[in-house]
Amino acid sequence: MAIVSERALGRWENEGGGLARELRDQFPGVRDWHYLDTAATAQKPQVVLDAMMRAGGEDYATVHRGVYARSANMTLAYEAARRRVAEFIGGREDEIVFVRGATEAINLVAHSFPRKGRILLSQLEHHSNIVPWQLAGYEIDVCPLTPDGCIDLDAAEAMLTKDHVLVAFAHVSNVLGSVLDAKRAAALAHKVGAKLLLDGCQAVPRLPVDVAELDCDYYVFSGHKLYGPTGIGALWGRKELLDTMPPYQGGGSMIDRVTFEKTTYAPAPTRFEAGTPAIVEVMGLRAAIDYVEAIGLDAIHAHEAELVRQTREALRSINSITLYGPEDAAGIVSFSMEGVHPHDIGTILDEEGVAIRAGHHCAQPLMEHLGLPATARASFGIYNDESDVAALVRGLERVKRIFG
Ligand SMILES: Cc1ncc(COP(=O)(O)O)c(C=O)c1O
Repeated sequence: MAIVSERALGRWENEGGGLARELRDQFPGVRDWHYLDTAATAQKPQVVLDAMMRAGGEDYATVHRGVYARSANMTLAYEAARRRVAEFIGGREDEIVFVRGATEAINLVAHSFPRKGRILLSQLEHHSNIVPWQLAGYEIDVCPLTPDGCIDLDAAEAMLTKDHVLVAFAHVSNVLGSVLDAKRAAALAHKVGAKLLLDGCQAVPRLPVDVAELDCDYYVFSGHKLYGPTGIGALWGRKELLDTMPPYQGGGSMIDRVTFEKTTYAPAPTRFEAGTPAIVEVMGLRAAIDYVEAIGLDAIHAHEAELVRQTREALRSINSITLYGPEDAAGIVSFSMEGVHPHDIGTILDEEGVAIRAGHHCAQPLMEHLGLPATARASFGIYNDESDVAALVRGLERVKRIFG
């Protein structure tokens, strides 16, 4: 089967981002479900499931070790996948470290970055871009947000000093969908001699990303939010930075020579990939990248922007609803309903076949800033269309009637 059938792609484009039934049907996990929780994890297209089945079945063997042909072939495929990830985000293949996901990538940088000191985070960060820095002992400053929920880069500029060694911001907020002006953030960080890490978890599935153009120093993302498998993600780092960083974990594969007296390490990125890697998941990630690129990130972004526009417009007409985040949010709409806990919203919507997320979204400092214990969040993917928006609105009208 073609990655994305020509017919489905044509219909998807011609309908201006409307649902292509065939495209949706390529996701066995979606079908007639109104799945609006893609920011938590994306459903997988059949081609990704097939690629993993092949990698774990007829093609399966270890990498980097075997002397037999199948292992050599798997090693070639594994390294080809690394090249594919590099191409996808505009980096070099020797700058891509395979990790379990964004969480592990940030823990790795927090542990191995050679200059522990002051860092600047923002009020909207996911816990995985807060706690690793705390654990590693950095001193943390917090950049405030603009009234519509973007990272306030004027404030960042005023706060940054020569003492800051790193700035770590979400490229796209997982709660508000706000998109960072990453190029400006890089310029501000570099002006004071700090490095910029971008948490790209919510950006890579919905925006074209080019790390060279953004001029960041580290970029991290998780495969499972990009229509790929869980348990795999990538850290991109400038080679000259990766080369200065000590290993994060020790074990097989990451060494040059081991003796009881002294061990020397392989060069980056291998030095950061201790143990047998997630071979099957790497093959799934590669297939997912092929899949989204066949559709095109510009087209995906436009499609989700239209769904966000429709959703915000429809929810604005329900007078007990408050919307959060900017009008031009990328693929994500957070909201609350007066007098109704988001968990009740989520439970009633579930009865209507609509899956949203309700909670603090692993962003408790942001909830505190909003003065809320939780929000309801609808997040879109390439399989969603206006029928999902309509189902959400119908469900919310029912919530309103029940609690009215
Ligand atoms: C912005 C952001 N950063 C980091 C993460 C953590 O990703 P993972 O749990 O896949 O490591 C998430 C997941 O929700 C996220 O949305």
